Amino acid sequence: MKNILVTGGAGFIGSAFVRHMVNTYPDYNIICYDKLTYAGNMDNLLDVSDEENYRFERGDIADRAKVQQTLAEHQIDTIVNFAAESHVDRSILDPDAFIHTDVVGVYILLDEGRKHGVGRFCHVSTDEVYGDIEDGLSVEDDRFLPNSPYAASKAGGELMVRAYNVTYGMDTVVTRGSNTYGPYQYPEKLIPFFTTEAIDDKPLPLYGDGKQVRDWLYVDDHARGVDVVLHKGESGEAYNLAGENQRFNIDVTKRILSILDKPESLVKHVPDREGHDRRYAMTAEKVRDLGWVREYDFDKGIEATVKWYMENEWWWRKIKTGEYLEFYKQQYSERLASADES
Ligand code: NAD
Ligand code: DAU
Repeated sequence: MKNILVTGGAGFIGSAFVRHMVNTYPDYNIICYDKLTYAGNMDNLLDVSDEENYRFERGDIADRAKVQQTLAEHQIDTIVNFAAESHVDRSILDPDAFIHTDVVGVYILLDEGRKHGVGRFCHVSTDEVYGDIEDGLSVEDDRFLPNSPYAASKAGGELMVRAYNVTYGMDTVVTRGSNTYGPYQYPEKLIPFFTTEAIDDKPLPLYGDGKQVRDWLYVDDHARGVDVVLHKGESGEAYNLAGENQRFNIDVTKRILSILDKPESLVKHVPDREGHDRRYAMTAEKVRDLGWVREYDFDKGIEATVKWYMENEWWWRKIKTGEYLEFYKQQYSERLASADES
């Protein structure tokens, strides 16, 4: 590996991965390729912007000509694909962009990567492909039962990765991460959304009874997990990157409020997300065998995260304007109004 294209590297986990790779491997050239959608943010990359082994290219993974040109220009030998539409609620409002990026974009990246002779293709997927897990833990050979348009589009993209491995012998690996949290996460996702709303004493719209379970993984552990699979994973295999930190949403919410010293009365139970998966849970046994060790348990990770949002208002206040407020209105106005009535 020498010239690595990191797609979606201006997003939350992608930027953590870029920072990790630029600092850990001075001999690699890290080329970040990102469309800069509402979720892409050059502020996430400020720490590495002056480093010699880092470059940025703005582009869409579904733009064949631009992908082709970028692969040639930077003599790319490795691709790590983080690029995606990633928010379940937005996929319920409008699935279109999810098919464009998470299915068609992945196909174009694979196809151009194969034609260009890329060595390894590492694809970042999600535990949501397994669907709702009533009990037990998902293992890598379990069947896919995605329930939201987001999860279905991620499953579609991942199956195309498999097809390119089986049919064309492309060298591919897949990671399936669990719910990730930490600094620089767009404040539409549960933890940064509730943290930044609570700082401003705004209501926290908790879906349904709040007893849904998510398995929380700190972002730097996720980034290191992708690095381990990229370097040590076996071609054609998928690896669960599980936090092994299962929590009820209501407990996560109360923890955020207690760190911020804010009252639990900010919590508003609102009508549930449509098709809401009750529980995700995986085992990380397979990737542990490659040497992945998590550094953060939930207590350490949530403290560090909430503190970061408290200390970095410059980063999130400018996001919570314009398009963000439009989405907020569409997603929460009616829900919060009906919570007030109940
Ligand atoms: P994010 O929404 O913060 O970032 C996505 C990035 O992809 C943005 O920078 C955006 O500009 C870019 N992008 C979107 N469409 C693009 C396109 N067509 N071409 C080029 N770039 C494009 O997402 P995230 O939370 O950092 O997630 C990164 C990846 O990890 C995604 O593939 C997601 O499915 C997966 N994942 C996320 C989580 C999580 O909890 N956040 C957990 C498991 C897996
Ligand atoms: O499991 C991995 C997935 O985790 C990733 O693949 C996705 O990209 C990522 O967005 C995340 O999906 P979730 O839907 O689990 O994350 P989200 O932060 O949107 O919601 C977490 C839980 O909190 C979920 O049960 C819904 C609930 N929730 C969320 C929001 C935004 C609320 O109760 N209220 C809210 O306002």
